[in-house]
Formats: sequence, C-alpha cells, structure tokens
Amino acid sequence: MTPKFIAELAAVGALAPSADNSQPWRLNWTGTVLEIAHAERHADTNVFSARSHATLLGIGAVAENLDSALSANGVRGNWQWNSDAGQPYGTVAIDRVPEGFIAPEGPARRHTNRLPFRSDALPAQLVDRIGALREGANRIAFLSEPAQRARLVRLVRISSEARFCNRDLHKWLFGSLRRSPAEVASGDGLDIDSLGLPPGGKSMLGFISDWGRISTLNRLGAYKLLARSEVGLISAAPALVCVSGATDSRSVVDAGRLLNRAWTELNLAGIAVQPYYVVTDQLNRLHDGTLAAGFDAQIGAVEREVHQLFGLATGETLHMILRVGYPKAEPVRSRRLALDQVFADAS
Ligand SMILES: Cc1cc2nc3c(=O)[nH]c(=O)nc-3n(C[C@H](O)[C@H](O)[C@H](O)COP(=O)(O)O)c2cc1C
Repeated sequence: MTPKFIAELAAVGALAPSADNSQPWRLNWTGTVLEIAHAERHADTNVFSARSHATLLGIGAVAENLDSALSANGVRGNWQWNSDAGQPYGTVAIDRVPEGFIAPEGPARRHTNRLPFRSDALPAQLVDRIGALREGANRIAFLSEPAQRARLVRLVRISSEARFCNRDLHKWLFGSLRRSPAEVASGDGLDIDSLGLPPGGKSMLGFISDWGRISTLNRLGAYKLLARSEVGLISAAPALVCVSGATDSRSVVDAGRLLNRAWTELNLAGIAVQPYYVVTDQLNRLHDGTLAAGFDAQIGAVEREVHQLFGLATGETLHMILRVGYPKAEPVRSRRLALDQVFADAS
C-alpha cells in the first residue's frame, strides 16, 4: 500500500502551474525516493519537449511545492538532479515517512487570475520582500515605474504579434482549450471559463480557431489587432514581477522554483497574478529556429531590449513576466489530472 504521506505529497507537487495546464510531469515513488520525470501529454498538439524551457519551469515549480509540503511536515528532503534534464529530472529522498500529512497552505492557494485587477499600488514591504527572493542564478525585478512598464508592455505586444502568426502555437492553444463540461472534467488544459473572456470573447475565439481563416486575416494585419487586445490588461497593471537568470537546464528548474515561490507568496498576501510567457517563448523560438517567418529581426530587437531593461549578462534570459495587482474578482480555477495519471507507486 502506498503510504498516505507519499500520495498526499505527490498531490501537492502536482498543483504546480504549467504552460496551458499541460502538467508535463510524472511522480514516481520507489520506496526510498520520489522521482520527477517527464510525461508527454497530447503529443499531436504539444510544442514543449522534455528539455524545453517551459517544461523545466513547471518541473521547478513541482519541486518547490514538494519542498513546501516537506517543510510543513518537518521532513528533510535531499535532492539529486540529473544533468542536462536527463530522465528522471530529479529525485528527492526523504529522511522519514510520517503517518499523517499536514497540507501546506500555499500550493492550494496559488492560482492564475486572468481578470482585470485594481490599479492601486502594492504595499512597499511586500514589494521589497518579493524583490529580495533568489534561487540559484535567478532573481526578481519588480517593475512599478510607468515608463519601465510601458517599455516591457511594448515588447509583449511585438512578441504577441509573432505568436499570432505561428501555426504551431495556434494548434497548441486550440488543442489546450476545454469547452464542454466533460472536457473540463478531464482535468488538464485550459477551461475556457478560466480565461476571463469579455462578452463576445468566446465567439471571437471560435472565429479565430480556424488557422486558414486567421492566416488570411493576418495578411490584412489581424495579428496586430489581436496583439493589441492581448496587452490591454497588462498595460493597466500596477506592477510587473519579472524572473530572470541563467539558461542552463538546472538554472531554468531553479527559475521555476523561484517563480512558484514568488507567485505563491503574492497569492497568500491577497495579490492576484497572471503570467505572460510570450516574450520568453518567442526569444526561445528565435534561438531554436521555430519563429513564424519574417519575425527574426523584430524578435532579435526584443531580445536586445530585454537585456538592456533587466541588465542581463550573456547567457541570461527573462524567464517570466507576472502581471500583479489586487483582484477585482475571483477567477474560475483550473483543474488537475486525477492523481493516478501523474503519480505511480513503483515500490
Ligand atoms: C511556463 C508557463 C507559461 C505560462 N504562460 C501563461 C501565459 O502566457 N498566459 C497565461 O494567462 N497563463 C500562463 N501560464 C499559467 C498557466 O496557464 C496555469 O498555471 C495553468 O493553467 C494552471 O492554472 P493555475 O495556475 O490556476 O493552477 C503559464 C504557466 C507556466 C508554468
């Protein structure tokens, strides 16, 4: 029988955020260690491999949730990581398996809010506390000053233009959407109600779901309009929290830990969070040759400006932007896959 503590621990790990709620992980209990490995999901539409930046951020977030659960139970975890994102990514050996399980508050409270936020500033103490968080070679920049925010929002807009011209990303987004109650109940992907769409938004999404139609409209500049509407909420946010640092695979896992820690602390303090991954994703596509045709020069310029804005060294990148602010309303929350789809006891 699987120890209750281990199953509960794995369930907390699996509350981690992932790109489009794809949950690309599998946790495996061997009897002595809990392994985190890659799980390929929806291979027909998936754009993120086991070694991709987005996947590694999610893996770091799982590790952070596991550590938060271990520490809530006074258990020490000893981590070992494979180099270069080899499988399993990592293992955590625990010094004892308690009978009961105390659930940490943070992982269950952390969530994405895609609704509009209030415009009032965040408390200075919180800004200082979050801004001081570090993990390995990663750090946090808190952009509150309007000119700095506007500079970054412009980069989000340009990156979104490239994104709306990318056929693979179009397929991935529409493959991730869950519309009917049965699809939502499957427990992964993006529940359309969690997107916080304005009136008419669902019909609009239906209209642009056909790639042939959107690529025709893109010749008339539709991608520019879509990108403009994409930056509406981020332009109005009182602050942007940005995670940056080195790009080797261990550092990206660490960035995922830092991302999850900052996000969880913000949510616990009553601050709403929405991640924006589009800039990082387009920079990665520039490097691996998967940008939409014709955007290399623009995304190259975005990269130079990102480096300037955050004072990045060679070999560093922007890992994630978070739009933050006081929530106006509670969002519909994403579900998770059933535990038996993400956890196995191989002991
Ligand atoms: C690598 C990564 C990229 C993400 N990109 C975005 C994004 O660009 N826009 C967005 O609204 N949410 C984004 N998210 C949030 C996920 O969609 C969200 O975490 C997932 O649907 C689970 O929902 P939850 O955060 O409420 O648990 C991203 C999350 C991760 C880890």
